[in-house]
Amino acid sequence: MGETIVLAYSGGLDTSVATKWLQEARGYEVVCLMVDLGRLPDVDSARERGLKAGALAVDVVDAKEDFLRFFVYPALGAGAVYEGSYPLATALGRPLIAKLLVDKAREVGATAVAHGCTGKGNDQVRFDVSIRALGPDLKVVGTARENLMNRDEAIAYAERHGIPIKQTVASPYSTDENLWGRSVEAGMLEDPWMEPPEEVYAWTKPVRATPEEPAYVTIRFDHGAPVALDGEELRAVELVERLNALAGEHGVGRIDMVEDRLVGIKSREIYESPAAVTLLEAHRSLEALTLTKLQLRFKERVAQEYADLIYNGLWFTAHHQDLAAYVQSTQRHVTGEVRMRLHRGTATAVGRQSERSLYSHALATYSEGDQFDQSAALGFIKLHGLPVEVQARRQLMLDAKDDDPLRLGTVGED
Ligand code: ARG
Repeated sequence: MGETIVLAYSGGLDTSVATKWLQEARGYEVVCLMVDLGRLPDVDSARERGLKAGALAVDVVDAKEDFLRFFVYPALGAGAVYEGSYPLATALGRPLIAKLLVDKAREVGATAVAHGCTGKGNDQVRFDVSIRALGPDLKVVGTARENLMNRDEAIAYAERHGIPIKQTVASPYSTDENLWGRSVEAGMLEDPWMEPPEEVYAWTKPVRATPEEPAYVTIRFDHGAPVALDGEELRAVELVERLNALAGEHGVGRIDMVEDRLVGIKSREIYESPAAVTLLEAHRSLEALTLTKLQLRFKERVAQEYADLIYNGLWFTAHHQDLAAYVQSTQRHVTGEVRMRLHRGTATAVGRQSERSLYSHALATYSEGDQFDQSAALGFIKLHGLPVEVQARRQLMLDAKDDDPLRLGTVGED
């Protein structure tokens, strides 16, 4: 018997072909692993295909709750969004799948693991790097990278080897789905000038088909993690599934962007992340109430660093541990409720409250009960403006020209 390899298996054409190819071309015994992060396709037919392709076993592991609790919620707490828009659904799933591949490899005594990512994307990097972190002794085979077959060749290969593929009208798009979002690329989307046709969307309604009336949902957070909707405590999977359905119904979470891949390519991506977009906005709004200005400012920088490390496949690193410790510390006061309005493609925070709120009505009010000492503002402004005045008198006025758009030529004259 040859050595055993564990393959990250989706049941689609490519990984079914890979199952056979790893045996034929590389002499491995193949164990297929399907990881359920929330949107597994038909498991029974996928298992049948894997076994027909000669797999020793096709195992399924439900990792939904772990995915949300240990990968998604920490990223939510950090406010991690890549290049201003992408909530990182696919990127967050990869390190968990990598971990489960390594666990399975240990269980079955495998010497290698495999994935079907192409050689042009980020996902191969995330898999390879995470696997090397968790099982440095394991060999990694990228089946699509090492066996360049186009679609027709793959179909012919499957037919030749009796792998049932029942080719429904092949989608021109490459998609990846989990509870945090859906990623779509390729096909006509490769022209960044072309508006995506309605068919690329599966979780969200187009704005014109959304309800005329808004929906309101109150989200409760406990230490930065969502724990209840409209007062009902829910497990993470249920909470995110409900929000995906509700916000998707109102057209929330469509993202159309050009992003920078780690491998240096700019690519056009479509995402649907109704729950993610809603929760990120709600969480941001609660932080505005419960964190100080300095915390918010610094945390924004950390958020970008955190998003980059997730995107770049550096989940299992000390740098991540350090950032996560900081983020977790910031979340100790982020407890409270946010009322979100979902309407015509938007998710807007319209109310927020917290037992840890830093908002003081007595300080903010323009009406009765004002406790802010307005006379103290005078001295404060004097000192705040002092260096500005000194610089204006000693430097800027000397160089000022009449046509200076900042009108420094008139300083002190009128
Ligand atoms: N560009 C996104 C990322 O790097 C999504 C990748 C989607 N993967 C896919 N197989 N369609 O995270």
